[in-house]
Amino acid sequence: MEYSAVILAAGKGVRMKSELPKVLHQAAGKPLVNYVIDAVRGAGVSDITLVLGHGRAEVEKMLQDTGIKFALQEQQLGTGHALMQARDLVKPADIMLVLAGDTPLLQAETLKNLLEFHRQKQAAATVLSCEFNNPRGYGRIVRQADGSLARIVEEKDASPQEKALREINSGMYCFQAGTAFEALTRIKANNAQGEYYLTDILEILINDGQKVEIMRIEDETEIYGINNRVQLAYAEKILRQRKNRDLMLNGVTIMDPETTYIDQDVIIGSDTLILPSTIIEGRTRIGSGCEIGPFTHINDSQLGNRVTVENSRIKEARVGDGCTIGPFAYLRPQAELADGVKVGDFVEIKKSYIGAGSKIPHLSYVGDATLGKGVNVGAGTITCNYDGKNKHQTILEDGVFIGSNTNLVAPVTIGENSVTGAGSTISRNVPANTLAVERAEQKHLKKRK
Ligand code: UD1
Ligand code: CA
Repeated sequence: MEYSAVILAAGKGVRMKSELPKVLHQAAGKPLVNYVIDAVRGAGVSDITLVLGHGRAEVEKMLQDTGIKFALQEQQLGTGHALMQARDLVKPADIMLVLAGDTPLLQAETLKNLLEFHRQKQAAATVLSCEFNNPRGYGRIVRQADGSLARIVEEKDASPQEKALREINSGMYCFQAGTAFEALTRIKANNAQGEYYLTDILEILINDGQKVEIMRIEDETEIYGINNRVQLAYAEKILRQRKNRDLMLNGVTIMDPETTYIDQDVIIGSDTLILPSTIIEGRTRIGSGCEIGPFTHINDSQLGNRVTVENSRIKEARVGDGCTIGPFAYLRPQAELADGVKVGDFVEIKKSYIGAGSKIPHLSYVGDATLGKGVNVGAGTITCNYDGKNKHQTILEDGVFIGSNTNLVAPVTIGENSVTGAGSTISRNVPANTLAVERAEQKHLKKRK
């Protein structure tokens, strides 16, 4: 048996009040539609078709080279019409999941259960349902006397008795693909919204004598759909809670999960401690035994093991094992620290390699530089890397000691084990094992009255 999935995502998402297509809005650092795709893949289904309309070029661009197929629904004439657009892309013999693109809390496990349930019942269609305290806005599940499905009625078409029903249609289904597409040819748009309702094929299938099942789930958060930015914030909160919980169960200590924001794809090793008010984003990977925070913001960076970072900003940087960073350090893109480096307070590093065991403890700017091993950069030292037109390189070889408040006017190289005197402006290369001093001799003049 082969499986496929169709995700309906052609709607505009009017209530987002946004230029951006709804399914591209992000929750916990990932676009909404990617959560649905990941849940489908997590359930072992790799043949995925996305039905797109509004903002389709943007969605296709974001998902290019992912192997996902796209169907176009030019006009949004309803969910039934939307599914029909995928007909040529799904094999009739497949078992087909049908989902919406705006339900980021859906989990792979639930889809696995749905597929398993559908197979065991040998059904033509299975609807995923849930009992809601407040069912407003959802389609209601109407059951027959024996408990089996009679039909699904949209709120706008429902009678007062039907509106009182609290079991709702999640908008997630499993179908025998060929059977579903054939039934879709028979739906009509004679309802309150003048749309082709996907839900109408269930009644058609029942009348055909096909087996239609309902799988009811308990956890209503799973099928929570995002229609506006208030709901987006709610989903974000739940996704973050899930991520924090996942990390904690895998050996990461999070002192205050309430103020810790970690994106879904971040990886953190065991026995790392995350202190309050810390944000870790994007494709960041952090090793074991680290201490991160408080008040630290890291994105798209790689940190080794036993690294400490306090009150700092790290952006697209790489940090080796045993480094200490901060408080108040700023590592910018392409900063690369080897093992055992110390970067202290008010230090900014950009596009530079800092060799093992080197120290830049206070008040420095290091840009476009290469530092060897065991280099010590005195307080207040800066690389003058930019001449107004071009950026130039600074090279400090192994064992160099830079006196406090040195200006390194690039391009410039300081040879192995050389020293610069405090307050010097160094604009010429310094050979190895040399003391370079550039400053006027101190004079003592008589003080005037
Ligand atoms: C739908 C169901 C309703 C269910 C609810 C669950 C129908 C008729 N109703 O209602 O029973 O309780 O979902 O959330 O199916 N879409 C398209 N093209 C269209 C219309 C919709 O691609 O022409 C997509 C939307 O982008 C969205 C999904 O289908 O991802 C659901 O559409 P939406 O308009 O939100 O359906 P509901 O009215 O909420
Ligand atoms: Ca909806």
